[in-house]
Amino acid sequence: MANFFPRWSNWLPLKLTICSVIIVCGLTAGTWYYVTPKYTKVGYEPIQPVPFPHDIHVSQLGMDCRYCHSFVEVAAHSNVPNTQTCMACHQQVQKDNPKLEPVRASWKTGEPVQWVWIHRLPDYVFYNHAAHVNRGISCASCHGQINHMPVVSDAKPMSMAWCLECHRHPENFLRPEDQITNLDWKPADVSPAEFVAKYGQPKDAREDWSKKKRLTQQEIGQTLKERWNIQPTENCQTCHR
Ligand code: HEC
Ligand code: HEC
Ligand code: HEC
Ligand code: HEC
Ligand code: HEC
Repeated sequence: MANFFPRWSNWLPLKLTICSVIIVCGLTAGTWYYVTPKYTKVGYEPIQPVPFPHDIHVSQLGMDCRYCHSFVEVAAHSNVPNTQTCMACHQQVQKDNPKLEPVRASWKTGEPVQWVWIHRLPDYVFYNHAAHVNRGISCASCHGQINHMPVVSDAKPMSMAWCLECHRHPENFLRPEDQITNLDWKPADVSPAEFVAKYGQPKDAREDWSKKKRLTQQEIGQTLKERWNIQPTENCQTCHR
């Protein structure tokens, strides 16, 4: 009777072992590559022609993000301010500060200041600022506490998994529409009575939330999600068109 197993099958266990070692190594290396900050660019902080301090202008001087990033509510792309915007103040203020020399040079020559882009998605991803900031998502959810940064750096990984984490659970991030550019806002700042009077509460809530001492992020988010009918999608076409 012929041998049931062909001769090569003696090598099968060895081949399987080698294969799995290679696969495990590949996966480890791949994961390593993807999760290390260098790939996700968290903390990326290029040297700018002018070390523009967001903390001074926003937290100390009280300027709103939209004073400089004026397209953020109306366009897919936000914008970085032009030289006129800076010179409106800096023709008088800090006239001789050497840090502002590139801005003054740009004012004279008409050549824009060469700001370095920090947040950049690959070309095959579609992203839209207006669709987020007009739907209850704050700059802080994606860019971190820019208002306390002496120099802007990348605060979040901006990977696909990161986008989807919020698209699945926007209630963890939604806030009242007048607090979008208030990067220090927290749920405890909300007065439950005023909030419920303005936005109501979810249909399945059992108690009267306006009597609560304070509302949690989930309670605020759930209310706004229902009220505004927020439904971010996970369809590939939403972001890859
Ligand atoms: C006085 C003008 C001014 C104000 C006000 C301002 N910014 Fe900026 N912002 C700039 C300039 C100039 C740059 C480019 C230089 C840099 O990246 O540091 C910039 C860069 C940025 C970037 C990085 C852009 C990139 O390249 O990816 C983000 C994000 C940002 N600002 C968010 C905000 C937020 C959020 C606020 C409000 C809390 C704000 N800014 C307020 C002037 C301003
Ligand atoms: C509304 C007025 C206003 C505008 C607009 C403005 N700044 Fe300023 N900026 C100030 C004031 C006031 C100070 C000084 C703050 C202080 O002395 O603490 C300052 C300080 C600075 C400094 C010096 C920080 C330091 O540590 O020495 C830099 C650099 C600067 N601004 C860059 C810019 C740039 C670039 C723009 C345009 C994108 C801009 N500013 C727009 C008011 C303004
Ligand atoms: C849902 C996440 C999200 C929110 C909310 C958000 N941003 Fe952004 N921002 C991004 C992403 C992603 C990029 C990179 C865009 C690209 O590469 O096309 C970016 C880029 C920028 C840039 C660089 C210019 C550009 O458009 O490429 C500026 C300036 C900026 N954001 C400012 C703001 C300000 C100010 C707010 C709040 C009013 C804000 N962002 C809210 C995700 C966000
Ligand atoms: C913190 C929460 C949050 C993050 C992070 C986030 N999104 Fe969104 N996204 C939303 C919400 C909320 C909406 C609006 C849904 C609605 O209008 O019903 C939205 C809508 C969109 C839309 C639809 C816009 C349109 O034209 O209708 C696109 C595209 C999109 N997001 C892309 C992205 C990409 C790409 C990223 C990652 C770089 C991202 N989002 C990260 C919350 C988020
Ligand atoms: C909310 C926005 C969003 C949705 C929805 C989305 N993607 Fe992505 N996708 C991204 C972003 C952002 C990147 C870029 C990630 C990076 O630069 O690390 C990306 C990258 C990718 C890549 C490149 C692989 C990589 O890691 O470099 C592939 C493939 C991809 N997406 C496929 C899909 C498929 C298939 C779907 C539907 C099941 C989908 N995406 C849905 C935002 C999205």
